[in-house]
Amino acid sequence: MRLDIVTIFPDYFAPLDVSLLGKARRTGLLDVHVHDLREWTHDRHRTVDDTPYGGGPGMVMKPEPWGEALDALAPAGASRVPRLLVPTPSGRPFTQSMAAELAAEEWLLFACGRYEGIDSRVVEEARTRMPVDEVSLGDFVLAGGEVAVLVMVEAVGRLLPGVLGNADSVADDSFAPGAMEALLEGPVYTKPPIWRERVVPDILLSGHHGAIARWRRDEALRRTARTRPELLARLDPDSLDEHDRQV
Ligand code: ADE
Repeated sequence: MRLDIVTIFPDYFAPLDVSLLGKARRTGLLDVHVHDLREWTHDRHRTVDDTPYGGGPGMVMKPEPWGEALDALAPAGASRVPRLLVPTPSGRPFTQSMAAELAAEEWLLFACGRYEGIDSRVVEEARTRMPVDEVSLGDFVLAGGEVAVLVMVEAVGRLLPGVLGNADSVADDSFAPGAMEALLEGPVYTKPPIWRERVVPDILLSGHHGAIARWRRDEALRRTARTRPELLARLDPDSLDEHDRQV
């Protein structure tokens, strides 16, 4: 998968050389290119922002450098176009299903806004020649899109075939599609069996796979009911058995 990231702070993306994603880059599963937006400015101060029309606080990112950046990275009339992702608190929520959808793309282009955002004409014009999603990580405001892009790249990158050591760990994730969809993952344990007088639940040491799966589902239901009750409402009633209803 190819990823292009446009930002005024390329240093934010140093973590993409570390851990799972670093390895995916080194083995060629992820082809990441980070670009400095200021490369597409032409004045002495390499200006990327200006005051907002209509007044108000803060600054808005100018359309010209963004237009040139998108033209350079996704030339008009080319046979392939990237999917453009623009992180903004006004976007639609980023979810595990969007991560899975993006993991099926060949080429993603991320545009990191700063200040009060990017002049709206940039996204409007980009939509005429490539698919564009404005995406929010949640109902809070970050200082810019860079951290949001790191989050999305990690969520998408770990779903690419060959990136995680054990493909099964993706299937068990909270929010992963399947039997446990919309449930939060329950507690997990490893050796030793007793630590500071705290014991691992017996069932996990029993070797009874059916009973363990049942226990994990019960714990997932309980944790979801406790911390995210609104998620239970999203469960497909047909996916619940009699035992689930008692939990
Ligand atoms: N940029 C600033 N805040 C953001 C958020 N909550 N999600 C995505 N991008 C952002």
